[in-house]
Amino acid sequence: MDTSAIESSLRRDIAACSSLDDLEAVRVRYLGRKGVLTGLLRAVGSASADERPRLGGEANRLKQLCESLLDARRPDLGGGDANHLYHPPLDGTLPASTGVVGRRHVISQTFRRIADILEGMGYRLAHGPEVELEYYNFQALNFPDEHPSRDLQDTFYVSDSILLRTHTSPIQVRFMEENKPPLKIYAPGRVYRNEAIDASHQAEFHQVEGLFIDTAVTMADLRGDLLLFLRELFGLTIQVRFKPHFFPFTEPSVDVDMSCFACNGGGCAICGQTGWIEILGAGMVHPNVLRGVGYDPDQYSGFAFGVGVDRIAMIRHGITDIRMFLANDLRFLEQFQEPRS
Ligand code: PHE
Repeated sequence: MDTSAIESSLRRDIAACSSLDDLEAVRVRYLGRKGVLTGLLRAVGSASADERPRLGGEANRLKQLCESLLDARRPDLGGGDANHLYHPPLDGTLPASTGVVGRRHVISQTFRRIADILEGMGYRLAHGPEVELEYYNFQALNFPDEHPSRDLQDTFYVSDSILLRTHTSPIQVRFMEENKPPLKIYAPGRVYRNEAIDASHQAEFHQVEGLFIDTAVTMADLRGDLLLFLRELFGLTIQVRFKPHFFPFTEPSVDVDMSCFACNGGGCAICGQTGWIEILGAGMVHPNVLRGVGYDPDQYSGFAFGVGVDRIAMIRHGITDIRMFLANDLRFLEQFQEPRS
């Protein structure tokens, strides 16, 4: 049998292939069940004893040659080899698929914005526990036992003396116990109140506490820092005004309004036509609170403020229902894209 004729037709056939289908047809023609080389290998058995070794060797050589020639052609016809490097053919002109990109929750974005501003003003980060001692949440903040102001806080109790903190103010006390003045801190966190839930009340919400203690700190310092803070957050045209208020742990205490960032004080739907938006509570730290942590109120004074983070986020983004923050509805959450930093 003329094996060199088989070899040259094999080489010609493989070179002539222009697709993977052509290549497969050649493979079948030579190595399939009825293929040329399969037939040749079979014929070895029936060859005469002195022909057999040469014929067997040739048949095997051609089979291996065929396989390696097929393998060699496959890549340039777009076919994959064992590691699929060539499949599918890469089209560099196609637009990239971006996939799904996660983002921070709008409340976290707001926390970060607030933190950014306060850090820039010299406030340093402090933390405290969400499951808090009644002592830090109330007593140490000058809430007298059985005082009705405790009822205002609608507290979730864990046991007689342990509760879910109703505000971030206990962090003031914890920090002052551990540190000497001067100090300037902010303390972000989640707080809990047993509220009747509606569009503006939720049982879990978020606050950032601010505290500054030094010698000769006055209401003017409080006003200056709040003005700077609110202008960073809402724009340079913002004005602030203080209204008398009551908190057990500050004296005097104030409710802080800012001029409406949308109408610049003229009156619009956002500010309920008043030109002002109630934005946070603040005051000068009560002497009893200072005494309780071992500070001399004749030597030191300071201010504290508490910002509702949910409220800030609602105002900044025009959100009308506080319940959206914890509903985990992607249609809502996907609307808040963080600016790339
Ligand atoms: N803790 C107060 C509240 O939750 C806010 C506040 C903080 C007021 C600090 C004064 C000073 O309502």
